Amino acid sequence: MGRELFKPNILDPPVVNMRKISNRVNVFKPSPHRMLAAKAEELARAGRDVYNYSVGQPGLPPSSELIDMLCTKAKEEPFVHFKYFSASGMYSLKEAVSADLKKYGGIDIPPSNIVITTGGIEAFHFALEITTDPGDEVFLLDPSYSVYWDLLKFLGLKIRKCPQTVDTGFQPDEECIKENITDKTSAVIMVSPDNPTSRILDEKILKLVADLAAEKNTWIIYDEAYKHIIYEGEHIWIHKYGDTLNRLISVNTFSKDIAIPGFRLGYIYGPKEVVTQAAKLKGILSLTAPVPGQWMAYYALTTDIKEKYLKYVLPIYKERRDVAYEAFRRYLPEAKIWKPPAGMYLFPDMSYYLSRLGLNDIDFAFRLAEEKAVIMLPGSIFGEAGRNHLRVTFVTQEPERLDKGIKLMAEFIEEKINKI
Ligand SMILES: Cc1ncc(COP(=O)(O)O)c(C=O)c1O
Repeated sequence: MGRELFKPNILDPPVVNMRKISNRVNVFKPSPHRMLAAKAEELARAGRDVYNYSVGQPGLPPSSELIDMLCTKAKEEPFVHFKYFSASGMYSLKEAVSADLKKYGGIDIPPSNIVITTGGIEAFHFALEITTDPGDEVFLLDPSYSVYWDLLKFLGLKIRKCPQTVDTGFQPDEECIKENITDKTSAVIMVSPDNPTSRILDEKILKLVADLAAEKNTWIIYDEAYKHIIYEGEHIWIHKYGDTLNRLISVNTFSKDIAIPGFRLGYIYGPKEVVTQAAKLKGILSLTAPVPGQWMAYYALTTDIKEKYLKYVLPIYKERRDVAYEAFRRYLPEAKIWKPPAGMYLFPDMSYYLSRLGLNDIDFAFRLAEEKAVIMLPGSIFGEAGRNHLRVTFVTQEPERLDKGIKLMAEFIEEKINKI
């Protein structure tokens, strides 16, 4: 599906004697994720009122105080706000990140063990580049963030995985983890809170992972992108177990907590050897992370702006989560849905409805987009265990619209079932 998108259009120059496109990139099919995003734009251009539940975007703009501060300071000192910085990032931002980790997690990570990256995704990419070679084995939970599967494929890695299902609040099975983290595992990837399920991993699971990683001498790559987006409970800092810090590579982003995804800013921290390699890679691949973004993050962390912003947005996101959850219960009672304590997404199992419609989740998502201008992501792009699910972003729309779009989906399903 989707390859027809790349058929030459009549305006393209004829492809005569074109030298090959590498297999490295050609193995990737256009992702339904990007195609649905394009569909949403196309529908909006055609004047349709689009209910978009597909983007992993924070629901509110960044703090206006923070934007003002960046603009004022950049005007005062334009040279330093737009110059090159060193590959590992601005030292004062690394100091601010170090203080932030102490404040929220109680952990001591020196600035020299931190590298500023171009988004969390680059931090994750670096973690894999540094700890694996093609053909090596990594462990991942299924479902997982869709881009991760593509990156693992891109790097030629073998995957061992365990499913996480709605019935257990998306907590993986301990026996499965014990069987699949072995002496051959180069890196164990954990994400908490998670995308697409928004669950916080149980402490006992993270403790088990820490113990197994020590026993098998494997790296732990811990993605903490959503560590501040929590409504009930708290983030679990895996760092505190045993000697975990010696094998831990933490992947972070400023895209979610201070809501600057377009600035492409994140960071990685870990043992000295890892961050030395990360800085080396950064220097080769893109020289430095976006410098105005580094300043913006610096201002957020060295004032009370980040804390105030989180206090402001979290109750709003929480209310939106509740509204979206209740809408599913009301309009789609046979969807198996779990109310997550964190994150930005619901991940309902729609098997009951999809089997009655005779559709898979991908075809369903495209038809729903086309007919009702309601955009949700098909669960199977997040892994086999996501099949027949939908990923529904709840933070980006106001309560009334959140409810209405889910109602429209329920009507769409009813209309189709009545026609069968
Ligand atoms: C689990 C997870 N990790 C990493 C990222 C990447 O974030 P960034 O925008 O900083 O690249 C995302 C983005 O949605 C995510 O969901």
